[in-house]
Amino acid sequence: MGYLNLDKEKTVKTVKQLNILLADYHVYYQKLRNFHWNIVGPHFFVLHDKFEEMYNDAKVKVDEIAERILTLRHQPTSNFSEYLELSNLKESSATLTDKEMVDTLLQDHGTMLAQMKRVIDPAEENEDEGTIDMIGGYIADLEKTSWMLDAWKMKTTDKHLTIK
Ligand SMILES: [Fe+2]
Repeated sequence: MGYLNLDKEKTVKTVKQLNILLADYHVYYQKLRNFHWNIVGPHFFVLHDKFEEMYNDAKVKVDEIAERILTLRHQPTSNFSEYLELSNLKESSATLTDKEMVDTLLQDHGTMLAQMKRVIDPAEENEDEGTIDMIGGYIADLEKTSWMLDAWKMKTTDKHLTIK
């Protein structure tokens, strides 16, 4: 891995955290499929489509994280039994209401954003710009989706914060 110009021990620290993030994204992906299939009620069409858009995005990121780990010359975790053990996220039941689904996802986003920070910290120590850049983009994407889900929960009379 000489061409990478990265410290081996520091890279191991980053890879450990990337593998946990990979596990998080797998659990999150399947949860979105669960919600896409099991959503009922008047918001069916909007959320059914939104969850599909979100799991398609998660699918791309799953592959990018695994391939980043390989680029760092390590092996990504590949089995679901390992993902369930490693992940910070818990699976969800198939009987949640639309609002419970959105609340669950917002909570998971907070957990995943914290995990991304745990990836960035050792990557910064290692001047691993490739990982920092990739995860930085993921943070912005997840924050944006969180804003949208949170806006969906607001009443039409609710206001955004204003700076005086
Ligand atoms: Fe579908």
